Amino acid sequence: MARVTAFSNQKGGVGKTTTCVNMAAFLAERGKKVLVIDMDPQGNASSALGFFEHKNKNSVYDLLTGGKTAGETVRPTEKENLLLIPSSEDLAGAELELAQVMIGRERVLDEKIEEIKKDYDHVFIDCPPSLGLLTVNSLAAADGVIIPIQCEYFALEGLSQIMNTIKLVKKFLRPDIEVEGVVVTMYDGRSKLSKGVIAEIEKVFGDKVFATRIPRNIRLAEAPSYGKTVADYDPKCAGAAAYRALAAEYQEKTEK
Ligand SMILES: Nc1ncnc2c1ncn2[C@@H]1O[C@H](COP(=O)(O)OP(=O)(O)OP(=O)(O)O)[C@@H](O)[C@H]1O
Ligand SMILES: [Mg+2]
Repeated sequence: MARVTAFSNQKGGVGKTTTCVNMAAFLAERGKKVLVIDMDPQGNASSALGFFEHKNKNSVYDLLTGGKTAGETVRPTEKENLLLIPSSEDLAGAELELAQVMIGRERVLDEKIEEIKKDYDHVFIDCPPSLGLLTVNSLAAADGVIIPIQCEYFALEGLSQIMNTIKLVKKFLRPDIEVEGVVVTMYDGRSKLSKGVIAEIEKVFGDKVFATRIPRNIRLAEAPSYGKTVADYDPKCAGAAAYRALAAEYQEKTEK
């Protein structure tokens, strides 16, 4: 049975998508079968995996609202062991449509992916930068949450909101959900500021903070425009080395 992990933080641009798709790619290289579900109407995870057409038929929108099964929405990607349920631009409307559902609207995704969990080792859900029904559906389907935090001044600002949402999901929807880890992104090892920010993050999250830090690396930002993860775009760059190490650290942690 797949372990389901949501990549979430309502703050925009902190590295959710970059972390989700690249960890997924390196776990796939380690022989794990990984399904990425793009729950963000922006569709960044879909394009990073080669799906630029945001008018996708049989997208996650159809899964949530149109009666499609998960099996009908899964696509293979160019990478072995790595599959995708793509987003589409109409996904923004799904939030409103879900809001009309009287009973069980938080659990639609969870229900829909139940039948395919046996086919994967990991299901990674890329959340949008908001705490609406798309994120709540993602969390309600998840065993764990990975929170990417950008290493900058005010990094911790707003984190109480996502932590509070996770607490509510735990109380009402998913008692066993846990924070699997915090990933520090866009880290600059030479700056004093970065070190100070890390100390702050560790004060709050303790050993939940992954030892592997993700450096600021231009190759990570370039890769999605080629529809590739950094594992295939530039496997030797510093960003690839970091996500390769993070995938190994994650696997060690989750299989303990
Ligand atoms: N370590 C890094 N080094 C350099 N650029 C990065 C790094 N991580 C992410 N980026 C770039 O920063 C931007 C934001 O990253 P990303 O899209 O992963 O964040 P996000 O949290 O998913 O954003 P959103 O909230 O919009 O979904 C992107 O342009 C991405 O390519
Ligand atoms: Mg994103």
